[in-house]
This record gives sequence, structure tokens and C-alpha cells, in this order.
Amino acid sequence: MGSGHREPFENPVVEWIDSRMPIFTLLNKEYGVFPVPRNFNYFWNFGAIAGFMLVVMIATGLFLAMHYTADTDLAFDSVERIMRDVNGGWLIRYIHMNGASFFFIAVYIHIFRGMYYGSYKKPRELLWILGSLIFLLMMATAFLGYVLPWGQMSLWGATVITGFFTAIPFVGEDLQTLLLGGFAVDNPTLTRFFALHFLLPFVIFAVVFLHVWALHVSGSNNPLGIEPKGPQDTLPFHPYYTMKDSFGLLVFIIIYCVFIFFMPDALGHPDNYIKADPLVTPAHIVPEWYFLPFYAILRAITFNMNLYFLAGFAILAVLLVEFVWRKKPVYIPSASAGIALLAVGGLLALIGFTGDSCARIDAAWLEANAGFKGLCGALQGLPFMSAETAPVSAKLGGVLAMFGSVALLFVLPWLDTHPVRSARYRPLYRVCFLLLVVIFLILGYVGSQPADAAIAGIPLILVGLAGTGYYYAYFLLILPLLGRFEKAKPLPESIHEAVLGKQIKAETKI
Ligand code: HEM
Repeated sequence: MGSGHREPFENPVVEWIDSRMPIFTLLNKEYGVFPVPRNFNYFWNFGAIAGFMLVVMIATGLFLAMHYTADTDLAFDSVERIMRDVNGGWLIRYIHMNGASFFFIAVYIHIFRGMYYGSYKKPRELLWILGSLIFLLMMATAFLGYVLPWGQMSLWGATVITGFFTAIPFVGEDLQTLLLGGFAVDNPTLTRFFALHFLLPFVIFAVVFLHVWALHVSGSNNPLGIEPKGPQDTLPFHPYYTMKDSFGLLVFIIIYCVFIFFMPDALGHPDNYIKADPLVTPAHIVPEWYFLPFYAILRAITFNMNLYFLAGFAILAVLLVEFVWRKKPVYIPSASAGIALLAVGGLLALIGFTGDSCARIDAAWLEANAGFKGLCGALQGLPFMSAETAPVSAKLGGVLAMFGSVALLFVLPWLDTHPVRSARYRPLYRVCFLLLVVIFLILGYVGSQPADAAIAGIPLILVGLAGTGYYYAYFLLILPLLGRFEKAKPLPESIHEAVLGKQIKAETKI
């Protein structure tokens, strides 16, 4: 089989192997001389860091699996045995436990970096989709892993999450039974979760391989968001970025070690050191911190989506497609027809939302606000307003909102239609994006609090709803609008010109 041109290696062993199977030529091409933009900042370290964390998780997981017993009677004790009796067991477990958190930290930074610099845009859409798939697989793997120590949060977290499936109409209950291997989280659940938790990291590994393959076809984006125009814009990956990645990785590992050695339980929940008890429900069931923003989105939908709400929602969705996503509306003849539909859609959604919410308003408050009580009475008297007739229950709505929020990532390359990639040259996009990051963090806080908590008198559930609203608006409304109307700053001619310009500026200052 021909393998193209290759340069001989000096080392005779390397040459012997390479002349039979040119693996060193391949590695040199992809990781040695591979041309990479010369202007990466430290945010470009996080792909390599995520790769390192994946290897750490697989290696430590393998050793944990040698001592772990997937049986509801023994699992908790087998983990305690790893911590106390197995040589170095505590270290392996703490590396793995905190590793999950640090893996997510690296990947969250990696994702937000990609969003800030528009790395998902043409020609890197497939690279981005593979990344989104990795993120989904990581979430599944982390959830499955958290069940294994069989603590209180393991059991109750699994009960809540698998409970989502019952929200799916018609097949939900059967699906949940199939997933659990019974009617509740029990031994069959634990054994299948262990099997899947062992398998999925290898699936992730395979998708990471495809991810990096796609990256090496398109080449990397960079902080300027413009393509390299020639060799003056790039550097060979080795030694420049092998060194920069190693330095970033070292700093990351130091922080990771601080957690492993000095605060190993800081990111976990203390209740998971209590053995799972199906008869005792913890006061607050919370997922691991990296799921909290999505958990807040899940809990933000507390209203049933009745026919009024859904009709209004459908009209607003058509308006979104016609006036925001399309350059010219196809089905709606004029702007005034659009405004009329906006009023009708908005009113229907409001009627549906208020009518359903009335059922949950505090009775004493309603008594004190006679006007609102009258309105509620009138709304609830309307046909198809009751919760029972609502096609989408609050639970299903929450589940759809949560999965939808991850699904949006997959289609992001088609939602942001602006030709300029980097937020450096898009001032409005930059503000909206940074606001998204802040709101994502606020959603994380909301997710960590009890459902009925309030801050400064504002119920957190409303904060969660507003945050969810912004999250969706960012993807579905703001990005398409900015794509059409935002005026970008002038882009530099080339990477090396921008880099040298910066250097000259710095030198003249000195
Ligand atoms: C196990 C998880 C992951 C690993 C090991 C990984 C690995 C990598 C590596 C090594 C790079 C090149 C270095 C860099 O640009 O930082 C990269 C680039 C990239 N990754 Fe990932 N990745 C992972 C997850 C994700 C996820 C979840 C997404 C998005 C949803 C994503 C999107 C991207 C994009 C868009 C690039 C190109 C960046 C650019 O050229 O500017 N990756 N990835």
C-alpha cells in the first residue's frame, strides 16, 4: 500500500517502524510541523487540557473499577475500602472525583472560547457539532458515574433525573422502567450504570479523535477570527505550542492538585457520604455543580403549557422565522400584519401563562387583590385552561427546555449568521455574549438553591425564568438579529500584520 512521500528518520528504530508503517511521519505532520496561527492566546490551551483530563479520567477510572463492586449492598462500602485500605486508593479516587469537575471546567472554558471567537463558523461547523456531541456524552458519563458510590445524592439524583423520562407522552413510563431495569433505582440500575459508565469514556475518546481530525482539516481559528494567508501567519505546532500547552497544563494541574490534596470534597455534596437509603429523601436534591445552570432551566418551567399558551407560542415562532431568520418574510404579506400577529400571539401566550399560574397564586394574596382575583376567575373559566387539558405539562416543558438548551449548541453555526467571527470586531455581540456568560453563572446559582428560595424578596424561580428567557433569546433572537444588522469593526489585513502592529506599539511605548 502506497503511503506517499516521507523523509527518513535518523533514529534506526524509528526509521525501521516508520518505513513499514509511517506513524512517526503522520505524528510529525499533524503535531510537529503542523502550521498553526501564530497569535493564539491562553484560551487555546483548553483543548489540550481537556484531552489530558480525558486520559486522566480513563486511567484512574480503570484502577477504581478494579476495586469497586457494583452491587447496592456493597458499592458504598467498596468505595470506603478504596479510600481506607487500597494502597493509594484515596489518591486515585480524589483524582477521579475532582477530575470530573476539572474536566468540565476545561470544557466549559473551551466551549465559551469557541463562542467568543466564533470558532463554530464555516468551515468548522462539523468540528463544533462533534464537540457538542462530546459535551452531551460527558454529561451522560458524569451522571452515570455519580450514581456509582451509592450515596444519598447518587440514589436521589438518579431518581430525579430518570424521572424526567416519565414526562415523555405515551412511552415515558416504559422508557424509565427500561432504563432503570425495574420500577425504581435499584441493583439492576446500578449494574447497568456501571457498565455504561465504563463504556462511554471510550466512545468520547473516539469522538475526540474525529473532533481533532476535523480540526486538522480546517486548521485552527485564532483570536482575530481571520484565516492565515501564508507561512508568515503561522508557526509549527512544535515547539511553539507544545511548550505553550505544557505551560498552561502545568498551571491547570497545580490548581487541580490544590483541590485534590487540600480540599478534595469542596466540589462535592456531603450527603453522598451517607449510604443510599430509599426511605429517606434528602432535604434538597442537587446535581453536581456543572449541571446546575441546566438544572435551573429545568426548574424554571413551573407552568403548564395549555392550548392558549401553545397557540400564542406558535404564532410568535412563525414571526421569529419570518421577520428575524429570513431576510424577507414569505408567508406574512406586510409589517402591519406582522404587528397584528405579534399582538395576538403575545396576548394568547400571556392569557395561557396567567390563567395557568393563577392556580398556584397564594390564596391570601388573591383575596387582598380583588382585581387580580376577578381576572383569574375569568381566565380559569375559559375552556381548555385547566392543567389536565394542557398538552405540555410543566414537567415536560422543563425537560424540553433543558434538553433544548443543549440542543441549541448543535445548531449554533446556523443561528449566528454574521460573517465576522471574533467578538473583538463585533462590539454588540461581545456585550450580548458576556451577558450570556454572567447569566449562565446566575442560573448556576439559582440551580444550587432550593426551589422556593428568594433573594432580596425576588423568588429565585423568577430569576431562573428570566435567565432561561435570555438564554433562549440569545440563540434564537439576538444572534440572528446581530447577524443581519451588526456593523463590525474593520478587520486587520493579516495575522502577522496585526501581531507586528501590536509589537511595534508596545516597543514605541518602551
Ligand atoms: C473531551 C472534550 C474535548 C477535547 C479533548 C477537545 C479537544 C480539542 C483540541 C485538542 C482542540 C485544538 C486546541 C484548541 O483549540 O483548544 C480543539 C478545538 C476545538 N474544539 Fe474541542 N475538545 C473537546 C470538547 C469540545 C466541545 C464540547 C466543543 C464545543 C461544543 C468543542 C469545540 C471545539 C472547537 C470549535 C475547536 C476549534 C477551535 C479553534 O480553532 O478556534 N470541543 N478541541
